[in-house]
Amino acid sequence: MHDGANAMTGAAGVGASQGAAPVVIRGDLIFLTGDPFLAPSEAVVTHVQDGAVVCRDGLIAAAGAWGEVTVPPGAEVHDHRGKLIAPGFVGLHTHSVQTGVMGAYGGRVLDWLTDYVFAEEQRFGEAERAQASAALFCRELLRNGATTALVFGAVQPQSVDALFAEAQRLGLRLAAGKVLMDRHAPEGLLDTAQSGYDQSKALIERWHGVDRLAYAVTPRFAPTSTPQQLEAAGALVREHPGVLMQTHLSEHAAEVAWVDELFPGSRDYLDVYDRYGLVGPRSVFAHGIHLSEREFARLHEAGAAIAHCPTSNLFLGSGLFEMERALAAGRPVKLGLGTDVGGGPTLSLLQTAGDAYKVGQLRGRGLNAAQALWLMTQGGADALGWGDRIGSLETGKEADIVVLDPAPTPIVAQRTARSQSALETIFVLMTMSDDRAVAATYVAGRLAHARDGAREAVR
Ligand code: GUN
Ligand code: ZN
Repeated sequence: MHDGANAMTGAAGVGASQGAAPVVIRGDLIFLTGDPFLAPSEAVVTHVQDGAVVCRDGLIAAAGAWGEVTVPPGAEVHDHRGKLIAPGFVGLHTHSVQTGVMGAYGGRVLDWLTDYVFAEEQRFGEAERAQASAALFCRELLRNGATTALVFGAVQPQSVDALFAEAQRLGLRLAAGKVLMDRHAPEGLLDTAQSGYDQSKALIERWHGVDRLAYAVTPRFAPTSTPQQLEAAGALVREHPGVLMQTHLSEHAAEVAWVDELFPGSRDYLDVYDRYGLVGPRSVFAHGIHLSEREFARLHEAGAAIAHCPTSNLFLGSGLFEMERALAAGRPVKLGLGTDVGGGPTLSLLQTAGDAYKVGQLRGRGLNAAQALWLMTQGGADALGWGDRIGSLETGKEADIVVLDPAPTPIVAQRTARSQSALETIFVLMTMSDDRAVAATYVAGRLAHARDGAREAVR
């Protein structure tokens, strides 16, 4: 049996960065040390102008003002002065095998699945395609500043093998799983309760707890699994206590009605999953747009999380997430952001945060920059149960870092030149920019992506 929480990485260091020369990243530090949904931004934001993060053996050895941290002998200094140094972004929901159907016209989720997604996912039986797609997907995560992601593969286990192998090579912290789906999809995409169980178990044994990887048991959603398969998914979770569980929940009204028909004995959509032991502290549910008070309360009680996917919800016309209900005092549900590619048309968590703000606007609510940054970093990390390892720039955490450029294009540059604060700059980047604002991405203290030109900063 594996326990990912313990097996993942010890205090000794992280992955390939162990033993490498220390790296010191210089720039304006910004991160959160408390929840800005509960406290005013000023009370929870740490902003250090001309600061530095010292990375050693993949971990943050020190972070503070440039003049106050000690540059270790032999360290490489990466000079990003004038840019923001933030924790790497954490994505709570996306599909590595759907980059080929991003931006597909028309349709709500159930039609979109049959018209585009199922045809695309059938192509993942070929190892070559699985590898090429995994390589593109992981590169795009890094280009967008995402250092941690929770990801759906396809039904075919090789899609997940390829993804884990690529994530391991790049040093990403990544949780993923093969889709379980034994009904209501084309024949070529179906597994069975038994084969889905066996394939998932083999993947858990191969990958869970290896370097920075974790397995997530992944029933696609209630309509595409028989009760027998949901039972088998519950058994996988029970038998492997460290694994995560991910699925879709209450994305669109027609889907909710279908679940009602398919599972007449259940109290509501969440209860379908609950009956099979799939609602717990390591469960992440994508969307959660049409939830009842009972469902929110149950998610809170179980310590389960919601991945809010506003770009997808707008693109597929699924509905407007009620964030203030999810976070209601007394029973807040853990929350982070997901790009939900290919329902979402971007892998940029900055843009996703921008759309979370716009969804709030449509509902007469706000989402300030500190709250958005929380969802992209520490909030997402907490939702995955990894909040003590990633999500901020505190000493001892894994050195996953994104360097944000306040001047990625002339028009953004002229706007951020007027910013009164680092948070204002972040707000402008999430509403006006995208991957172009990501100058560099570090995983476990190692430079893993440098936008054109940014390498010049590295000496
Ligand atoms: N519901 C079931 N499968 C999917 C999927 O692949 N994408 C989205 N957005 N919703 C789903
Ligand atoms: Zn999805």
